[in-house]
Amino acid sequence: MSGSKSATRGSSRPPENGASPRGRYWRLLALSLGSAAVFAVLFYLWGRELFPRAAGRWGATFPFVGAVALTLAVALFLSEWFGFAGREVRKVRLAARDFLFLCSLALLLFFAAKAVIDLLAEIPALGRGVPTRVYAYLIPLPAFTMVVRVLINSETSILFTVAASVLSAAAAAGSWPALLFLLLSGTAGAARARRVPDRYRMLMAGVQTAPVCALAAAALEFSFHGGGGVLWAGIFGAVNGLLSGPIALAVMPVAESAFGYASDIRLMELSGTGHPLLSRLMMETPGTFHHSVVVGTLAEAGALAIGANPVLCRVAALYHDIGKLGKAQYFSENQAGAANVHDAMSPGLSRAVILSHVKEGVRMAGEFRLGDRITEIIAQHHGTSLLYCFLDKARPMIRDRKASEEMFRYPGPKPKTREAAIIMLADAAEAAVRSLDRPAPQEVDETVTGIVNRVYLDGQLNECDLTLRDLHAVGRAISQVLAAVAHGRVDYPEAGKGAV
Ligand SMILES: [Fe+2]
Ligand SMILES: [Fe+2]
Repeated sequence: MSGSKSATRGSSRPPENGASPRGRYWRLLALSLGSAAVFAVLFYLWGRELFPRAAGRWGATFPFVGAVALTLAVALFLSEWFGFAGREVRKVRLAARDFLFLCSLALLLFFAAKAVIDLLAEIPALGRGVPTRVYAYLIPLPAFTMVVRVLINSETSILFTVAASVLSAAAAAGSWPALLFLLLSGTAGAARARRVPDRYRMLMAGVQTAPVCALAAAALEFSFHGGGGVLWAGIFGAVNGLLSGPIALAVMPVAESAFGYASDIRLMELSGTGHPLLSRLMMETPGTFHHSVVVGTLAEAGALAIGANPVLCRVAALYHDIGKLGKAQYFSENQAGAANVHDAMSPGLSRAVILSHVKEGVRMAGEFRLGDRITEIIAQHHGTSLLYCFLDKARPMIRDRKASEEMFRYPGPKPKTREAAIIMLADAAEAAVRSLDRPAPQEVDETVTGIVNRVYLDGQLNECDLTLRDLHAVGRAISQVLAAVAHGRVDYPEAGKGAV
């Protein structure tokens, strides 16, 4: 197990699967070239001030040679920057989707910066009292870095701040104060968007960014140009910070819809039982719904114990077994009082039905656009663990070599994030304790410890950032909540025997 302890947006970003380092490099290079070509076209269309004479004797051929050279330079910068970080920092191994998202944001920022600067320069009343250079302090980079931190993670938001600052400083004719302001304000915005479970928190992150932006703008204006535009620089810096919350709130739903991300705000919206999937779960499979709510409570407690994301744990747990919809009777939590349908089925058929709930859950998550974080957890919540309940029944088949033990494993993948691992543990612990009759707290504790040990020894936690200390803390938190739930079940007094 890794010893990593960082908690960014709360969920670690797993490395890309199935891509060799060489394959990743070529893919990153191809994406960089594509993105850089778009940048080059935009710079050529709007950035004539950047290339006033288009480099002497090559001037006449700038549209061709200049654009190609600029494309190569930007591509080199992006591949080196994100390639190096991806090799050295586990959480910056970006998927193609992330890279496209970041490039789209950088392009949008460039558009926004040009629009702000050009539009304000058109207002004559404003132009008289305000030096045009201070318009650069309105470039809305803090809003964008906040979005990156909330939707991806803090490591990526730092890298994006630097790359986007360099690229969008071109909109302000590449001035040093603008570049330094962008670096500082982008970092300040990202730093204040740590946990954003609702819109109010996002607006407050912007409000807290405003004084930093105002101070930075005023100081840079004074140090590079003297006292003339300091007041306006401060005002524009403050406005930039204040607007970063609303702008981020406007950009996020579009990014979530277009790229399949799920912010904590979106997760909170998904946690209401008004969502069609949760309503169906409640009406058609009440046993699974109850199991999911309990797993959510346990996982939330586990996440709080180790500084993982409690919102993600609770909401993903609500949806982790949606694949059971339509097959309620095959799962033990829905069989209360009824005969076990698996008694009349072959172990192979039972296995197929049970295993299918993961794949079906992933399909439904995609259909209902639950977002990448919930979908990944649904896919990983059983890892490659064994179907213990059917293994004994299948022993004769395994002995006769008609089946193998490996056939009774879930297909995986194993949990890649701490949140997925916590849900795996909570899920298994809830099922095990549910099968006990009125367990004492010590019995609950022993059962949970047994489950945690089994999951660990089976290698299910090999691919996530959970330390042994984390594992112990999660197990203890789950066992405390489960013991309280089990202990809280008191007999309801029979009618006429003291009921109030
Ligand atoms: Fe499940
Ligand atoms: Fe479950």
